Amino acid sequence: MSYPQTRLRRLRYNPILRGMVTETHLRVDDLVYPLFVCPGTGVKNPIRSMPGNYQMSVDVLVEECRRAVAKGVKSILLFGIPEHKDEHGHVACEHNGIVQRAIRAIKAEISDIYLIADVCNCEYTSHGHCGTIVDGDVHNDLTIETLAAQSVSLAQAGADMIAPSDMMDGRVGRIRQALDDAGFEKIPVMSYAAKYASGFYGPFRDAAESAPKFGDRSTYQMNPANSNEAIREVAEDIAEGADIVMVKPALSYLDIIYRVKNEFKMPVAAYNVSGEFSMVKAAGANDWIDERRVMMEILLSIKRAGADIIITYHALDAADVINGQV
Ligand code: PBG
Ligand code: ZN
Repeated sequence: MSYPQTRLRRLRYNPILRGMVTETHLRVDDLVYPLFVCPGTGVKNPIRSMPGNYQMSVDVLVEECRRAVAKGVKSILLFGIPEHKDEHGHVACEHNGIVQRAIRAIKAEISDIYLIADVCNCEYTSHGHCGTIVDGDVHNDLTIETLAAQSVSLAQAGADMIAPSDMMDGRVGRIRQALDDAGFEKIPVMSYAAKYASGFYGPFRDAAESAPKFGDRSTYQMNPANSNEAIREVAEDIAEGADIVMVKPALSYLDIIYRVKNEFKMPVAAYNVSGEFSMVKAAGANDWIDERRVMMEILLSIKRAGADIIITYHALDAADVINGQV
């Protein structure tokens, strides 16, 4: 059957009917809200390149978490800006490290919340790379030891989920083993499985003060030209015990999200990264686009591509739209 018997517009004339045949629904439950915690009290430093986002001290962070939960956004991804950095990122493993303190404070104040701890070294190393440097490059097998220790420390502080973002080989398995050995077999690992070496991370590196001081991350993060390699990365992480696999960035990588979902039928997360967020904010501020509409279209497209979970700085604004608050 085809035109004139078939008329695809027939299902588009009535708004109620359009609602009934809507294939993809964005829900507040799908969203994860990333937050940056820093030392001090009463600190709320605006992040210049990410309007509406802040480096927050623990007390301010707890209030922001309350605000998120009130909107139904109950899942938070935490990044730390530590007091001091060191050559190997050991500060990331301290009992009283910045994220460890934040987790304890949030858990003490708010019950209905889910805390995901990002695990990586770049915020904690003096050189800004994601691991231990040997002969000018990140040493894989030494780095996964520090990541395992950081993961256990964050789980001990009360993290509900561990999310390694470093892209070392074998880290998921090593972290899984360390968590299990420490009695945290119930704590899931969400791996940044297919993470690309991307220009879209620029604003985040301002926010987390984590830009590499020399070179770039091309020896560990993926080449944006590669898609089959993403499948190998994801397969490897699943074999090592990843519970959720992430594709990052999201918007320029919708094909990767689609492939990963279809190939593995695993829970898939997508990270709508800082640069994707800031472009929308900048164009919106200039009235070049309808910011709210574009935001929702982007988040919907990420879901439609196959993501179950969307990590986004738009989370609270999107929740307001979904909840009919704006
Ligand atoms: C660090 C990390 C990065 C992001 C999350 N974790 C940046 C990087 O790899 O340099 C990017 C997030 C964003 O841009 O929003 N391992
Ligand atoms: Zn890193």
